[in-house]
Amino acid sequence: MNDFATRLVNWQRLHGRNTLPWQGADAYRVWLSEIMLQQTQVASVIPYYQHFVTSFPDVAMLAAASEEQVLAHWSGLGYYARGRNLHRAAQQIMLLHHGQFPAHFDDILALPGIGRSTAAAICALAFRQRHAILDGNVKRVLARYCAIDGYPGDKKIEAKLWQQAEALLPRSDVACYTQGLMDLGATVCTRGKAQCSACPVRSGCAAYHAGRVAELPVPRPRKPVPERQATFLMVLHNNEILLGKNLSTGVWGGMWCLPQFDDEAAATAWCAQAGMEITFPAKPERECTTLQPFTHTFTHFRLHITPLLAQAIRKPRQMQEPGSAWLQVEDALQAAIPVPVRKLLQKIQAQRKLMPA
Ligand code: ADE
Repeated sequence: MNDFATRLVNWQRLHGRNTLPWQGADAYRVWLSEIMLQQTQVASVIPYYQHFVTSFPDVAMLAAASEEQVLAHWSGLGYYARGRNLHRAAQQIMLLHHGQFPAHFDDILALPGIGRSTAAAICALAFRQRHAILDGNVKRVLARYCAIDGYPGDKKIEAKLWQQAEALLPRSDVACYTQGLMDLGATVCTRGKAQCSACPVRSGCAAYHAGRVAELPVPRPRKPVPERQATFLMVLHNNEILLGKNLSTGVWGGMWCLPQFDDEAAATAWCAQAGMEITFPAKPERECTTLQPFTHTFTHFRLHITPLLAQAIRKPRQMQEPGSAWLQVEDALQAAIPVPVRKLLQKIQAQRKLMPA
C-alpha cells in the first residue's frame, strides 16, 4: 500500500467516524446515505435518514410509495431533485434488477441521480470493491496533497484530480480508505481552517510544505449570483392555507408551494380573477415582525421573498389553477414543502398559538 493510503487507513480506524447509522448496512441504505450526503452534512442528514428508512425500509417499499410521500420525507433537506431521482431509481431497480440493488459499477452508474463518485462510493462502502471516489471534500484533500492549481470544477483540473484519486487508491482496505478520505476532508482538511497538526498525511502534503494550504484548492471564479424577487401569497381561510403543487421540473418541482407573483398588484389581480375576495390584515399587524421579507439562497441564485398575508372572505367554488389545494396549516407542515414555505407556515402557526382566532 502506498504511504498515503497506509497512513489514512490507520488514522481512519483510530480517529475516523465509525458509528454512522448507514455504516455496515446494506447497499440500499448506503446508497440512500450517499444521496442525502451530497451537499448536506452528516449531522443534518442523520434524522432524515432514520425517518426515511423507517418509512421505506427497502427498495420495494420506496418504489411503491408516491412521489409525494417521498418528497414529504425529503422536505427540509433541499435539492429535491435528489429525492425525485431516488424514487425513480428505486422503480428502475424493481424493473431491471428484481428489487435487488445492483452490485456492478456500470449498473449503479446507470441509475438516475448517481454520478461517477457516488457509484464508486457505493461500490467501495457497500461491496468493498476497488473504485476511486472524488466528491467535493476529496477534491480539496487531493488538490492540497498534490498541490494541484486551478479550480477543481474545471474539466481539465477535475481530470487531473481523478488521475491522482486512481493512483493513490490502495489494493486492499478500500472501504476503510474511502471512509478515511471522506472523514479527513470533513474533519481535518476542512475548507476554512485546516488542522494540519492533526493530519495523518501532512508529511507527504505538497501544499503543506509549500505553505499553500490556505490558497488551495483555487476557489470557483466568482460570477455575480443572480438575484430574483418574488411575492409569496399566503391566503388563509379559517385555519386553511392555499397552496399549489409546483408542476415544473425546476428546483421545487413536485413540492407544495405558495402562489408566487412579481408583486402585490399581480397577486391581488390573480385573486380577483379567481373570484376570491380577500382582505389584508390591519396595517399594524401586517407590519409586525413575523412576516418580514427574507432571502433564500440557492446554489445559483438568491431569491428575495416578500410574504403577503391575506384572508379569503370565502373560498371560490373552484380554483382554476390545476394542483391548487386548501390545506390545514398543520397538514401542510407534514407535506412536501420547500424550506422557505415551511418557515412561513411555522410563523403563521406560532402567531395563531399566541392569538387564537
Ligand atoms: N459524505 C459523503 N459520504 C459520506 C459518508 N459515507 N460518510 C461520511 N460523510 C460522507
